[in-house]
Amino acid sequence: MVREWEPSMASDAEVAAVVDLLNAAVEVDTPGDPPWIVDGFREYVATTMPGERRAAWVVGEEGGPLLGYAMMLLMDDMGVFELSVHPEARRHGVGSALLLAAARRASDEGIPSLGIEVVGDTPAVPFYEGHGFRWAYAEMRNVLDLSTVDWQRLDEMARGIGSGYRVEAYPGGPPEELYAAYAAAKESVRGDDPADLELRPSSYDPERLRDSLATLHARGLKPYIVLAIHESTDTVAGLTEVVVPRQRPSRADQYDTVVVPEHRGYGLGRALKARMLFELKAAEPTLREVQTWHDAENEPLLKVNAELGFQPDREWREYEVEVVDLLHRLRPAVL
Ligand SMILES: CC(C)(COP(=O)(O)OP(=O)(O)OC[C@H]1O[C@@H](n2cnc3c(N)ncnc32)[C@H](O)[C@@H]1OP(=O)(O)O)[C@@H](O)C(=O)NCCC(=O)NCCS
Repeated sequence: MVREWEPSMASDAEVAAVVDLLNAAVEVDTPGDPPWIVDGFREYVATTMPGERRAAWVVGEEGGPLLGYAMMLLMDDMGVFELSVHPEARRHGVGSALLLAAARRASDEGIPSLGIEVVGDTPAVPFYEGHGFRWAYAEMRNVLDLSTVDWQRLDEMARGIGSGYRVEAYPGGPPEELYAAYAAAKESVRGDDPADLELRPSSYDPERLRDSLATLHARGLKPYIVLAIHESTDTVAGLTEVVVPRQRPSRADQYDTVVVPEHRGYGLGRALKARMLFELKAAEPTLREVQTWHDAENEPLLKVNAELGFQPDREWREYEVEVVDLLHRLRPAVL
């Protein structure tokens, strides 16, 4: 009943069936989240970074509604797995069958573990815990409703930086000549949070940054970058990244915000994020919200987000499991 699904070859009708299934799940699991739209969805799931691969599976007849959909990003040390079962088809083993397909593929490819992101308070928590996944990390999602923003106050925040810094905005990505400085700023905070499974990999070197930007564009994810330049050393002292997805254009994703350790305490984090909101307001008239995730212990970031008007929304958890253990557990349950 599980069949492998190749998004680049699938019919338009089948791509639409996957979107319908995801939206039916969003409606019950995370009501209030915007629905996916079909425009750009194929590119979103079919495109990967160079050297990475994805595999996907569906449950359901070709041409009809789908009961389940799963996708795995195959990395050397981990498969990053996603799964959705139609609310009306749950508790019949569909999710477990899709998980088995992914575990078998990971095993065939020599990938030792699977990592997943789960929204707290949804059936995914008992499902993965029941399959032996270990809870590794938790983050809080925060959402900013742009209609509630006090733009005058935000303007003060955007200007409130120490002297010796200048802020620059780059819709589409930083210019080539800044790639090395940009990647160096990201490298400076690498591994700050050892518990994070890094399911959303970051770009710590210029080559990877180039590939990453090209991949974002090819997937229909438009990046906006705001940088703080430390003028006397001409280095990147801080940065913030937001992506506006073509497949969910009313809600943007805040990616990394980094202030290099020696430049902390000069108001850069707040100013960068505030300036970013002005950039988005001007360039993306249909955008209504921005979402961001952060460690509940990260006090400086919590404070900045609260000042900007972000509201805590839901807990997101990362879980992991060894593929060998998962296969042992799944085989008797599913076969
Ligand atoms: C989690 C999910 C994939 C489970 O799919 P499913 O087809 O219902 O799973 P299965 O039937 O294979 O369930 C296997 C076992 O998991 C556990 N389980 C699954 N759903 C459960 C629930 N709601 N409560 C308690 N245990 C549950 C049970 O132990 C179940 O075995 P049982 O039915 O014999 O008791 C499905 O609920 C889903 O798609 N949820 C949304 C996924 C999601 O988080 N999407 C991302 C939102 S951004």
